[in-house]
Amino acid sequence: MDIVLTGDRPTGKLHLGHYVGSLKRRVEMQNSGKYNMHVMIADAQALTDNADNVEKVKNNISEVALDYLACGIDPQKVTIFIQSQLPQLFELTAYYMNLVTVSRLQRNPTVKNEIQMRGFKQSIPTGFFTYPISQAADITAFKANLVPVGEDQLPMIEQTREIVRSFNQTYKPVLVEPQAVLPENSVCSRLPGLDGAAKMSKSLGNCIFLADSANDIKKKVQSMFTDQTHLRVEDPGHTENNPVFIYLDAFCRDEHFAAFLPTYNNLEEMKEHYRRGGLGDGTVKKFLNEILQNELKPIREKREYLARDLGEIFNILRKGTEVARLKASQTLQEVKEAMGINYF
Ligand code: TRP
Repeated sequence: MDIVLTGDRPTGKLHLGHYVGSLKRRVEMQNSGKYNMHVMIADAQALTDNADNVEKVKNNISEVALDYLACGIDPQKVTIFIQSQLPQLFELTAYYMNLVTVSRLQRNPTVKNEIQMRGFKQSIPTGFFTYPISQAADITAFKANLVPVGEDQLPMIEQTREIVRSFNQTYKPVLVEPQAVLPENSVCSRLPGLDGAAKMSKSLGNCIFLADSANDIKKKVQSMFTDQTHLRVEDPGHTENNPVFIYLDAFCRDEHFAAFLPTYNNLEEMKEHYRRGGLGDGTVKKFLNEILQNELKPIREKREYLARDLGEIFNILRKGTEVARLKASQTLQEVKEAMGINYF
């Protein structure tokens, strides 16, 4: 059976980008019954650039867990766990560090970009710089062969594969080379922000969160960037690079037209009208709002219900963490045997 591992840093609530980019897919995989799935709340990774902000990371563990459960991740079918509670992951990281050069880490494009975005300049925390190695530990500890992620995580999977090959060659072949699983719909692998920025990101304040109220969603959709050249309704408009249409590409299905906007049969007809001129942004946004409200309402309601009993959320996490710890310690044992450092 395929073994799947994926995770999120608990630095904030999860948003629509997470939802279309990975959460939906995880639920589908879970429900197919074909995978042995693990979902990790990567609090230790979140601390690599939040050393002085432990409280924030801590508070967001339950927020992320609520987002998972509200979207339909089922703890009966999936092992949900907290990264920092598995010391085995840190031991594996230490041994893998000896297989990776500093210059190899410096070439990681995602880390490079994150260092720039965070303005670290010369003051990069060592833990942050080396997090791709700890991510390799996360993945290999479970012998995961599939890692569903967004595009920005591809360099981490590549790094993991290199570590696995190097380990297996240097010692004994006990580790499994993982593969990334990207979202099928390419618009979903990187949903832009409400402001058209390349990505939805908490720090840019351009997100719709799964926990947002109906009113917040409505206001955020109304504030979205559209085609800047589409000034009057009659003007011809552009649908490509237009965030509102990108969101429609990600969320809209033909039945939404029947339900909310029967003037058109499908998105292509609506796009043609927009390009021709005569279709106002207000109408398009209203339609997008209906679709998002429809999709997010059940998630928000389930989230509110679950949030009433955080004790139960931590029970779920504790049980998942115990299961995960057992698997990770088994792999660690094999790793130490392969290296010949199982002295006692
Ligand atoms: N780096 C991932 C993120 O920022 C989180 C993560 C940590 C992860 N360990 C992982 C994802 C292992 C997949 C597999 O979202």
